[in-house]
Amino acid sequence: MATLRIVTPGLGAVSTTLIAGVELARLGLASPVGSLTEYADVGGSPIRDHVVPINEIAFAAWDPYAVDGFEAAQTAGVLRREHLHAAAPALVAVKPMRAVFDASWARRLEGARHIKQGTWMEQAEELTAEMREFQAAGERVVMVWCGSTEAYREPGPVHATIEDFERGLKAHDPSIAPSQVYAYAAISAGVPYANGAPNISAEVPALVEFAARCGVPIAGKDFKTGQTLMKTILAPGLRARMLGINGWFSTNILGNRDGLVLDEPDNFRSKEVTKLGVLRDLLDPEAHPELYGDIDHQIKINYYRPRGDQKEGWDNIDIFGWLGYDMQIKVDFLCRDSILAAPVVLDLARLLDLAARNARGGPQDWLGFYLKSPMPDATGHVEHNLFEQERILYAAIAELIS
Ligand SMILES: NC(=O)c1ccc[n+]([C@@H]2O[C@H](COP(=O)([O-])OP(=O)(O)OC[C@H]3O[C@@H](n4cnc5c(N)ncnc54)[C@H](O)[C@@H]3O)[C@@H](O)[C@H]2O)c1
Repeated sequence: MATLRIVTPGLGAVSTTLIAGVELARLGLASPVGSLTEYADVGGSPIRDHVVPINEIAFAAWDPYAVDGFEAAQTAGVLRREHLHAAAPALVAVKPMRAVFDASWARRLEGARHIKQGTWMEQAEELTAEMREFQAAGERVVMVWCGSTEAYREPGPVHATIEDFERGLKAHDPSIAPSQVYAYAAISAGVPYANGAPNISAEVPALVEFAARCGVPIAGKDFKTGQTLMKTILAPGLRARMLGINGWFSTNILGNRDGLVLDEPDNFRSKEVTKLGVLRDLLDPEAHPELYGDIDHQIKINYYRPRGDQKEGWDNIDIFGWLGYDMQIKVDFLCRDSILAAPVVLDLARLLDLAARNARGGPQDWLGFYLKSPMPDATGHVEHNLFEQERILYAAIAELIS
């Protein structure tokens, strides 16, 4: 099988943890736990046998800071020293290309200087040319956005059709986000795209239409890790037992650069929108107004330096049972964000590549298992129940490998 080049806008905690992890797995020094494409079977056949082997994965990244993967991994502070050093050659080899970047979308990163120039369209063409170089060398390419969460802005008229969008790229329209420029460039180059962050990217009508027209697979957004993973495990269980919920208070403390960016209200708004949607869709309050019609759902993220990448997510869930008697559930998840996210990126990249090899273009709703905001299915429905998502994922893989 040809090499699969995973290209990531963003060379930060998640992407360096992925790059190092793939290298450590190859060297037999650590195990890629959490990856279905490494561990799971479909119909008795390991998924691993149907996706690109771990030895044939390569990386490249764009970042507005000109530091290599080793330095970025050191800053991220996720990996233990022995892992960092064993993976050093693979990390040093990733020197970021100049980013498509605009500080108005990530105010906390104002010092970023390693960036492309020109209109959005000129920058998109530069990105496409960079990806075409890999393709010219016989590689397949998949893009997963691992960049900082961009500020929340509603899509506008420029996002309506691909013609509007291309006009906007040429005019350097300020309502186009950098992540949308990457998504456009990826689709132009026939490169599948997934968005690991909650900002609005490939799901705007113009890019959905473009991906379908070009036959390029695109997935939804926002890696489902930490607190939301827990929510999508717990809420379907409570609903299955028809236990009521009055309130769900979630708070997080984290001290990595992701936390710093999310400390800015505009950037947090992107996250809040995807996180709030999950519970509503899982519990279906319209069908059960007495049980789920009046939930006080609050989410906070606090930047707290001492915690670093080891995010702490607290949930207080106020539930009620027989005769309306109240109870409480407290969850304190001391997680490692990037350790949970890295296998998600690996799986998304391999499965998007599997879809591309099977000529599956446009939105891939079956990858919703990995994401807080999956793409809707053909009927417009968005599935959030992790167990239903798992069933859909396995069915889709079975079909693709049959
Ligand atoms: N780790 C998780 O569990 C998790 C879960 C869901 C979503 N996410 C999202 O994934 C993204 C990556 O997380 P992280 O912890 O690696 O963050 P990070 O801050 O460590 O890394 C992000 C990198 O993106 C770069 N960047 C910013 N704008 C860019 C642009 N326009 N082009 C290219 N690079 C750009 C930054 O300079 C930084 O190096 C974040 O948006 C985060 O919210 C992470």
